[in-house]
Amino acid sequence: MKYLKEVIILLLCPCLILLCRRAAGDQISGRGTINLAHRQQKWTPAMQTCANLSDIRSIRSFFEFRTLDPEGAVFYGDTKEGQDWFVLSLRDGIPEMQIGKADILVSVKGGRKLNDGAWHLLELRSEGKFVVLEVNNEVELVVGLHSKLAEEQLTGKIRLALGGMLVDKQKLFHPFEPEMDACIRGGHWLNLSTPWDTDSTWEPRPCSSEIKKGSYFPGTGVAVFNTSDLPALKTEEAGITVEIFGSWIGTTLSLQSTGFLYVLEGDKDDKLGLKDGSTEFPSEPATLTFTILKNSLVVNSKPKVKSETLDFLSMWKNGMLLTFGGVPGDSEVAKSNPYLRGCLEKIVVQGQVIDLDRAAYKHTAVSSHSCPTEAMNELTL
Ligand SMILES: *[C@@H]1O[C@H](CO)[C@@H](O)[C@H](O)[C@H]1NC(C)=O
Ligand SMILES: *[C@@H]1O[C@H](CO)[C@@H](O)[C@H](O)[C@H]1NC(C)=O
Ligand SMILES: *[C@@H]1O[C@H](CO)[C@@H](O)[C@H](O)[C@H]1NC(C)=O
Repeated sequence: MKYLKEVIILLLCPCLILLCRRAAGDQISGRGTINLAHRQQKWTPAMQTCANLSDIRSIRSFFEFRTLDPEGAVFYGDTKEGQDWFVLSLRDGIPEMQIGKADILVSVKGGRKLNDGAWHLLELRSEGKFVVLEVNNEVELVVGLHSKLAEEQLTGKIRLALGGMLVDKQKLFHPFEPEMDACIRGGHWLNLSTPWDTDSTWEPRPCSSEIKKGSYFPGTGVAVFNTSDLPALKTEEAGITVEIFGSWIGTTLSLQSTGFLYVLEGDKDDKLGLKDGSTEFPSEPATLTFTILKNSLVVNSKPKVKSETLDFLSMWKNGMLLTFGGVPGDSEVAKSNPYLRGCLEKIVVQGQVIDLDRAAYKHTAVSSHSCPTEAMNELTL
């Protein structure tokens, strides 16, 4: 019984015995393959489960994990309705643990980068006053924690969640971007066999057998940035440069502000891809350079729009909508432009790689950090 008591040091519990409430969505097994991406609410976990602490027989959780995403929420647990909590996330691809318990807040990051697209076996366990993270059977991170204020009780419930948190993000010691384009399989969660409740807005999707770096647009939606959140102008002569690398068809991007809309359809006269409705991608990935100057818009060195009256650089600074993959909204003009289909391997604005997880809006079908290689092959046939 000794070790059992020690879990509780991590996952402390109140005096009340609370019932586990069910979340709204469907129930699924925690052992299967789970794609954590495609969520509408950034912080709401894709799925969660709850158990009575008195039923917990193991202090160990392990699962296989695969991602190309450098940052996001992976695994969360709490007791006392979130008064004591724990979250495992990635930052720069490296595992980070944050723990909030009694009067203590801890943040620890370390170990190897996990966002290499390979499956890794992760194991989390409690060893006395320490929490241990193992990756591929090697200890990567150990966190020790002690509070005189912490109570040690074996009653109440414990909640677990994947891909988000059940406490307010304000409680975090070190804030992070929660969206996680990752897959989990073969999970064993404290040896619980109860099914997990899914978030009703989450769309479970399969995990591709092979993935590569990039943002995947299946042809159903867009990612929208407010340009005031993107890198700023350096010199007026150079303007703003947006570079896109990848293989795609359909609308590449659009630029929109009050009374102004510019739509760049990748193919047409730029020979980037093929005609609308075609299922063929260019055999080689293309590079597109879109330059915004004070009074003109330039695509691959060819001026496309000139205006005497509009100052595009001020508009950039004040905040226009820069949309990748189509025209936002469901207006006639949005519908008349085909959504982008394909893999944008890299989007670079002013020399900086842009992360779609930081978009103001992203359609749930868009994968920020992985392109399924088989889907691309299928479309090339
Ligand atoms: C937890 O315990 C309570 C009371 O003992 C019980 O009613 C409830 O069904 C249990 N919940 C789970 C998930 O086992
Ligand atoms: C986990 O659960 C299984 C089946 O319920 C049981 O056979 C096994 O002994 C349990 N392991 C631990 C460590 O409690
Ligand atoms: C972009 O952000 C700026 C600053 O927050 C805001 O003033 C502007 O209205 C936003 N633009 C759009 C199109 O939402």
